[in-house]
Order: sequence, then C-alpha cells, then structure tokens
Amino acid sequence: MNLVEILYKEDLTREEIVFLLSLNSKEEVLKLYRRADEVRKEYCGDEVHLRGIIEFSNYCEQDCLYCGLRISNDALPRYRMTREEILRTVDYIVKADIKTIVLQSGEDFFFTTEFITNVIIRIKEKYDVAITLSLGERGFEEYSEWRNTGADRYLLKHETANKRLYSAIHNRQNLNERIKHLKFLKSIGFQTGSGDIIGLPGQTIEDIADDILLCKNLINDMASFSPFIPSYDTPFRKVSKADLELTLKTMAVARIVLKDAHIPSTTALGSLVESGREKGLEVGANVIMPNYTPLPYRKDYKIYEGKICVTDDPLACADCLRLMIEGLGRRVDEGKGNSLKPLTKN
Ligand code: SAM
Ligand code: SF4
Ligand code: FES
Repeated sequence: MNLVEILYKEDLTREEIVFLLSLNSKEEVLKLYRRADEVRKEYCGDEVHLRGIIEFSNYCEQDCLYCGLRISNDALPRYRMTREEILRTVDYIVKADIKTIVLQSGEDFFFTTEFITNVIIRIKEKYDVAITLSLGERGFEEYSEWRNTGADRYLLKHETANKRLYSAIHNRQNLNERIKHLKFLKSIGFQTGSGDIIGLPGQTIEDIADDILLCKNLINDMASFSPFIPSYDTPFRKVSKADLELTLKTMAVARIVLKDAHIPSTTALGSLVESGREKGLEVGANVIMPNYTPLPYRKDYKIYEGKICVTDDPLACADCLRLMIEGLGRRVDEGKGNSLKPLTKN
C-alpha cells in the first residue's frame, strides 16, 4: 500500500501508524500534515476552542521523574491560591469570553473534596461555563461527587502506554491504575482527556503508536500529545528536549486516527520552538489553552524550563491567541467547545 492509500484509510493498523510516524522525506511529511489538516476540517471545522487554565497549586505528592513540580524538588517555591483568588481568576476568564475553565494543580490533597466541590458550585451558580478538572489521580468517590456537582471534563494524561516505561518514570503509580481511573471517569459521564509526552527517555516509535491507539480505545474526548522539555531540578535534567518534527507528526497521525477528538496545540509545543502553537494548529490541533494563572504564581508552575508567557500579563494571552488564530484563517469558537463525540455532543 502506498502513502496516499494509508492516509485515506478509515482505520489504521499499528504498523501503519508506525509507518506514518517514521516518515522522513520532507515531501511525505508534508502530505501527512496536509491530510491531518483536512481531517481536522472535516470532523472539527475551523473553530479553535479556548480553555482558560488556572494552575492553582504547584504542591504535588507525586514524584514523576520528568516534572519540575515533583515532591522531591526542594528548589521550587510552592504556592496555593485561595478560593477567592481562584474565583476572581474565573471572573477574568469569563470576561474574556472564554467558556471553559480548567482547574489544574499537582496532586495536592490539601484541596479537599469539599473545597473543590464548593469551587465548582460557586462557578456554576454564577456562570454558564464548562469546568475541566486536572488534579491528577484522586478518589473515585471524589470524582463522582465532582461530576454530580457539575464538573464536565477530567484531564488525566496516561503519559505513556508502555507499562515498563510508565513504572520507570513514576515511583508511585502504575499504568493499569491510571487506565482504571480514566475508564471510571468516562463511565460516570465526564468528558475525558488523556495523552502522552513525546521524547521520554527509552520511548520508541512503537510506544507512541500505542499511545495514539490507547486514546482511541479509551474513546477519549480530548487527547494531548506534548513534547518533553527538561526541568533542571529533576533527574531528567540532561535528557534532550523532544524533536519538533516527531511531535508534529504524532499530532498529525493522532488527528487522522482519532478524527473528532479535541487535540490541543500545547503550551509545551509553544515553549519548544517559537510559533510552535501555530504549527500545531496546522497539523490537526483545534484547541489552545491560554494561561490565566496570576502573575506572582505562574512563574512557579515550573513543570519544565523556558515555559512561555510566564512574565506576560495574564489578560494579554487570550488576545494574543485570538490574533494568532485569526492570522491562520481560523475562528475562535464562541461556545463551550464540548466533546464532538456523538454521545456528549452539545
Ligand atoms: N498533576 C496533574 C497530572 O499530573 O495529571 C496535572 C498537572 S501536570 C503538571 C500536567 C501535565 O504536565 C502532565 O500530564 C504531564 O504530561 C505534563 N508534564 C510534566 N512534566 C513535563 C515535562 N518535563 N515536559 C512536558 N510535559 C510535562
Ligand atoms: Fe505532580 Fe502532575 Fe507533575 Fe506528576 S506530572 S509530578 S502528578 S504535577
Ligand atoms: Fe501569552 Fe501570547 S499567548 S502572550
């Protein structure tokens, strides 16, 4: 089978995915990107969805080897936002006409079930917005309570579908458990998001193919494929950052395989290279997440080195991104940007 036939197949095998991820010639890679952009247009349209993210705590009880927020990193000044600060930041996001609020933190059990429930209630009473939680692995009862309270989405990346690699980079967690959480979240009606990190040490192209297939099997409403960028204060300080082309190829193949899943052009991609997020939007992505974490805190949500926008006025990012999106001939979506999967479509 030739490249064009594979690009237009309805379902790709693992071998075909590996084949696409391994493309080398400039011309063939361009064909892949063009097909991904076509699939994005067909299944997702020209709208780009904005999700306003609040990184409300950089405390974390986990020790992921790749992440600057890991508990063993004593060099990081830690912060927790108060409920009032979180709610004030939500006001700013809504004023910017963004209708999804992403509440993200390290795995920080200082924030109890009740605290998060109360924040969800306060947001939902005031505003007609979608809420995405990204708090790491929490208890199944907590998930249910937050879902019943009105939280809409949960983002929990599987990071790598290779069990051995997963256990090597997580001191305390395993892949089976993570998948159990993702399935449970889906079963109680959350729109779920998962995905990987590209460029982990020891990761193969076959692993990345499995990452894409795992997102497909989990019927993820969202899937994020972001490049690894080292943090100086982790055991991975000397690991090279991810290859740009491999990251873009992964996003493109993911779009072709996952069709209507929301795929972000990540902040990590924008931090990897200038105009990284524009490039991502051109190879299949349809989501961008402007950072609304207030200025005194955002520089300390230091997952990796060189994260963009850490000194910018938080309120400037949304306008900057709108200009970028329009510059690409795309439109900012005015709605909540719910899942495009048939069961959860709004
Ligand atoms: N603690 C929650 C969790 O792990 O799901 C949410 C916050 S965590 C910082 C969000 C994501 O950051 C992780 O899912 C991981 O993929 C990504 N991340 C962590 N370290 C990274 C690095 N060095 N390069 C790129 N992405 C990284
Ligand atoms: Fe904590 Fe998430 Fe970073 Fe792991 S990736 S150390 S869980 S913040
Ligand atoms: Fe933050 Fe451009 S997105 S200033």
